[in-house]
Amino acid sequence: MARIILPFLALLAVLDVTQAQRPGAASFVVPTAFPTSVFSSYYVKAAPTNEPQPAIHDPVLNITYPLNLTNPETIPLADLDPVYYPPAIANFSEVTSEALVKLALAEINSIIYESGGLSGNCSKCIAALSVGKMLAQTVPSYVPAAMVSLCQSTGFASNSSCQTSYGAGNFGAIWTQVLALADVTGLDGRYICNTLSTTFCSVPTTSPLNVTSLFPKPKPKNATAPKASGNLVKVLHLSDFHLDARYSVASEANCSSGLCCRYSAASTSQAVFPAPLYGAYKCDTPYFLGLSALQSIASLTGTGDTCSSPAWTIYTGDLVSHDPENEMSQAYVEYTETSIYSMFKSYIKGPVFAVLGNHDSSPENIDAPHKLPGPLGQQFSWNYEHLSGLWLNNGWIDVATAKEAATHYGGYSVKNHLGLRIITVNTDFWYRSNYLNYINMTNPDVSGMLAWLINELQGAEDAGERVWIIGHVLSGWSGTNPLVDPTNLFYQIVDRYSPHVIANTFWGHTHEDQVMIYYSNNGTVMNSSTAQTPGWIGPSVTPLTNLNSGFRMYEVDTGSFDIYEAYTFYSDVNAYSTLNATGPTYQFEYSTRDAYGAAAGWPTTAPLNATFWHGVTEAMVTNRSLVTTFNTYQGKSSIKSPNCTSDACAEAKICYMRAGSASLGKNCSQGFDSVQSPYTGKNF
Ligand SMILES: *[C@@H]1O[C@H](CO)[C@@H](O)[C@H](O)[C@H]1NC(C)=O
Ligand SMILES: *[C@@H]1O[C@H](CO)[C@@H](O)[C@H](O)[C@H]1NC(C)=O
Ligand SMILES: *[C@@H]1O[C@H](CO)[C@@H](O)[C@H](O)[C@H]1NC(C)=O
Ligand SMILES: *[C@@H]1O[C@H](CO)[C@@H](O)[C@H](O)[C@H]1NC(C)=O
Ligand SMILES: *[C@@H]1O[C@H](CO)[C@@H](O)[C@H](O)[C@H]1NC(C)=O
Ligand SMILES: *[C@@H]1O[C@H](CO)[C@@H](O)[C@H](O)[C@H]1NC(C)=O
Ligand SMILES: *[C@@H]1O[C@H](CO)[C@@H](O)[C@H](O)[C@H]1NC(C)=O
Ligand SMILES: *[C@@H]1O[C@H](CO)[C@@H](O)[C@H](O)[C@H]1NC(C)=O
Ligand SMILES: *[C@@H]1O[C@H](CO)[C@@H](O)[C@H](O)[C@H]1NC(C)=O
Ligand SMILES: *[C@@H]1O[C@H](CO)[C@@H](O)[C@H](O)[C@H]1NC(C)=O
Ligand SMILES: *[C@@H]1O[C@H](CO)[C@@H](O)[C@H](O)[C@H]1NC(C)=O
Ligand SMILES: *[C@@H]1O[C@H](CO)[C@@H](O)[C@H](O)[C@H]1NC(C)=O
Repeated sequence: MARIILPFLALLAVLDVTQAQRPGAASFVVPTAFPTSVFSSYYVKAAPTNEPQPAIHDPVLNITYPLNLTNPETIPLADLDPVYYPPAIANFSEVTSEALVKLALAEINSIIYESGGLSGNCSKCIAALSVGKMLAQTVPSYVPAAMVSLCQSTGFASNSSCQTSYGAGNFGAIWTQVLALADVTGLDGRYICNTLSTTFCSVPTTSPLNVTSLFPKPKPKNATAPKASGNLVKVLHLSDFHLDARYSVASEANCSSGLCCRYSAASTSQAVFPAPLYGAYKCDTPYFLGLSALQSIASLTGTGDTCSSPAWTIYTGDLVSHDPENEMSQAYVEYTETSIYSMFKSYIKGPVFAVLGNHDSSPENIDAPHKLPGPLGQQFSWNYEHLSGLWLNNGWIDVATAKEAATHYGGYSVKNHLGLRIITVNTDFWYRSNYLNYINMTNPDVSGMLAWLINELQGAEDAGERVWIIGHVLSGWSGTNPLVDPTNLFYQIVDRYSPHVIANTFWGHTHEDQVMIYYSNNGTVMNSSTAQTPGWIGPSVTPLTNLNSGFRMYEVDTGSFDIYEAYTFYSDVNAYSTLNATGPTYQFEYSTRDAYGAAAGWPTTAPLNATFWHGVTEAMVTNRSLVTTFNTYQGKSSIKSPNCTSDACAEAKICYMRAGSASLGKNCSQGFDSVQSPYTGKNF
């Protein structure tokens, strides 16, 4: 018997190498029937012509969200949540307040119109901010209306976007806090003016960082990482779900502005491209699509039964849809958090370690350092308490960890059941669209999040633990999204604790399948012996924009917590309008080792660590077909992705892969970072 079986097994092994390795089925065709039992109650049942409206009960707040929150036909046009203003230095009567506003606007107008406009004149913008600051400190609650009025009268933006940018419930009250508390004549002012318009002030460069005394102990010279155990477990990585519970089947899926697949009585009957049941390239994830992705995981990743279920799952943030800010609210964010995590709980065995994304807040992108005065420092606690309550309720973290997350911006540090320490960070504190970051820019860590991270990493080093860092907004790549100073600091932290402590870092945000490499000595020499830490950027579930839907599964060693395999899966969104009698197909896309290992000359037994990824970038320099492969996977094999065949594109792509901080990314040629639209090859 053995004589027959052994050669047969050998033959199988040969076949495995020649046909791409994959962990489960090659593809999974989602059944058409909606998995009704995933929710216990519905306002509107799912049908082939409409998305369901489940009645979501929130176990943390003990409420059931009303239908009108997500009904596509009753989307609110104003966010009525409470807003916070900075403390006023005195109380003025309404008459006096209005007179002050009038004076300030006249003063700002005279600054703007004196010898030309603001364009190209940073100091004029700063002078205008100084007047705004006085107003924000005296009559804060009058500032949003004054900003809307100034925006409209100067034609700075369309009247409606002036309202949706600066209205009190949108970002107006947040901007008021920034004006009142920022150093508008210093670095803060230059950042604020650059954010208002890049023509007002150029973007500030990286500030010098004093790393002396940054770390409690110097990097040990003889440090070694824990040894590999030889045991591999499966770990799932999901990102950027962006559930759109207001998705309207048959509405316009090819709209020209804003989020598409939105109901409108007039346009739905004449939609040029009627929104398919399962989703579209310019739309977020409808229930039918999100549940299709979740249904396909077990079969594709080979985690169908309990003994092969994922050891754990990481979720790198962003749950909420890309609605305009005025159509969202705290309740809408809380609904989405509750709904998605309950769906995860139904389909994913084992703990899910999730981070907060920039869209998972209200107003979106904004989080406040605890140091802001009075109640301003706690203005987002409702969200940290809600998220940590859901994570606890789902059994993913314990009471002590949930308490830490609730008081630490949603971030927490936890040692999992296999001995890996997972540290999650709230990356809104380095996201350029969190305007509250523009208060005290000379301090790269106003929130204290990075000091806390150092403390946790030092503890891990002392205890001989290996760490994964998980966040949402990536720290580098082209450098267009993260701020330079905080990510320059983060880069030094990664260097200090790599590779002996930090095994891997994981991110999301871009919706694309990308990778970053962190090097020693601030990347001054980039080679295979200075590459220390990989940054894995997970593909999104949402197709927005022009992308296919996807997710990833890693094979991870339980001793070193290095990654030995990464499998990526996707579904072709282009096929959704012609589906007939089946749901969408999710399929195996590629194995990272098979795609790049041979070209990088990487041993089949070695981990996919930073040295491996550096080797891939070196191979890309001469072998441009590898760049094409990377570019194809970046958009999850979307037919909409632009080609990356020019030298300029290939060189930029390699440069982004080697850029773990915004400072390094900004040194790369810009314009080739995203496959969501044709490459511009220009700065933007
Ligand atoms: C939840 O709310 C319901 C009423 O809506 C109430 O009867 C119940 O006691 C509450 N449960 C908890 C745990 O507070
Ligand atoms: C939505 O419904 C809830 C409960 O029925 C109600 O309190 C709320 O005012 C409604 N909101 C809108 C915008 O209609
Ligand atoms: C303004 O009035 C409010 C409410 O009466 C009060 O709490 C606050 O202390 C006053 N502020 C100043 C600066 O007098
Ligand atoms: C900016 O505006 C100020 C005040 O109008 C003016 O003095 C200065 O020359 C302008 N600078 C530039 C570069 O246009
Ligand atoms: C925009 O608002 C300004 C000032 O409120 C007003 O004068 C103008 O007519 C408005 N423009 C449009 C197109 O509505
Ligand atoms: C850097 O910080 C150390 C201690 O915190 C201080 O002694 C030193 O003067 C600083 N260096 C610079 C250039 O500011
Ligand atoms: C590293 O060196 C320190 C001090 O020389 C020593 O205490 C420690 O045991 C060494 N660690 C390892 C892993 O060799
Ligand atoms: C900003 O800096 C000022 C001056 O150093 C300090 O008083 C204030 O507390 C800081 N605010 C924040 C939010 O860090
Ligand atoms: C990556 O793995 C290879 C092979 O085991 C090893 O030689 C190299 O030092 C590792 N790189 C890092 C940064 O740990
Ligand atoms: C779906 O496929 C069936 C069988 O191939 C065909 O008869 C039917 O016309 C198709 N329906 C649509 C809407 O294309
Ligand atoms: C990319 O190149 C392929 C083949 O070279 C071509 O079929 C495709 O249309 C190109 N795509 C774009 C967006 O240019
Ligand atoms: C690291 O390199 C970047 C890019 O050259 C630079 O802007 C930054 O100041 C450097 N950081 C340190 C700590 O030297």
